[in-house]
Amino acid sequence: ANPPPPHILISGAPASGKGTQCEYIVNKYGVVHISTGDMLRAAVKNNTALGVEAKSYMDSGSLVPDDLVISMLKERIAEDDCAKKGWLLDGFPRTAVQAEALTEAKILPDAVIVLEVKDDVLLERVVGRRSDPQTGKIYHIKFSPPSDPEVLNRLTQRSDDTEEKARVRLESYYKHARSIADHYESTLRKIDGNRDKADVFSDIASIVDSSMTEKNDDDDDD
Ligand code: AP5
Repeated sequence: ANPPPPHILISGAPASGKGTQCEYIVNKYGVVHISTGDMLRAAVKNNTALGVEAKSYMDSGSLVPDDLVISMLKERIAEDDCAKKGWLLDGFPRTAVQAEALTEAKILPDAVIVLEVKDDVLLERVVGRRSDPQTGKIYHIKFSPPSDPEVLNRLTQRSDDTEEKARVRLESYYKHARSIADHYESTLRKIDGNRDKADVFSDIASIVDSSMTEKNDDDDDD
C-alpha cells in the first residue's frame, strides 16, 4: 500500500514567510495548501456572506471570529483531495479554540513548524510585499522583485500590509502564540526564519521527512 500522505502545519508571525515556504513544500510533497488568509481574501473578493462578515476584521488587522474560520476550514479539509494528497495548513489554528477544534475533529498534524523572525525584519517584509494577481506568486520589492517588467507593473499590495496594521496583526500573533505552542508541545519545531528562503526550506524538509519516517514506522508496527 502507498504510505499515508503528509499532514503539515506551518505557523509564524505575519510575514514570517509562511506563504513563501508553502510554495516550496507543495512542490516537494504534493500536499494541498490550505491558507485561511487566502480563503478569506477570496471570500471578501467574491462578496460571499462569509466575506462580508470577515472584511472589517481583516481590514483592521484583527482575527476573524473563531466559529467562522473553524467551519470554513473543516469543510475544506474534508474534501477528497486532502484525503488523497495530504494537507498543509497555513495560518490555522491561530487561537487555542481553533487548535482544540482541530484536535477534537481528529485533524492531527504529523509536523508542526513555527517560523521565528525578528520584529524589525517582519515589518520590513510586510511593507515591501507585493503579489501578482494573475499567478498569486509572492514577491518583495527589495528582497525578491520579479525580473519581468510586465509582472512588476501589475503587482498589487494587500490592504493590511501597512506598518500600522501589521503591528495589530503582530500583537494578536504574540497574544496567542503561547497557547498554540502548548497545544502542540510534542510535535512542534521552531525554525530560524531570518535566513535565506532556501536555508529555511532545507530545515523544514528535514523535519517533514523525519516525521514521515516516524509515521511510516508506526504504521509498520501496527
Ligand atoms: P494571513 O493571510 O494568514 O496573514 P499573516 O499570518 O499575517 O501572514 P502573511 O500572509 O502576512 O505572511 P506570510 O508568513 O505568509 O509571509 P510571506 O511568505 O508572504 O491572514 C490575514 C488575515 O486573515 C488575518 O489578519 C485575519 O484577519 C484573517 N485570518 C486568517 N487566518 C485566520 C484564522 N485562522 N483565524 C482568524 N482570522 C484569520 O512573506 C512576506 C514577505 O517577505 C514577502 O514579500 C516575501 O517575498 C518575503 N520573504 C519571505 N521569506 C523571506 C526570506 N527568507 N528572506 C527574505 N524575504 C522573505
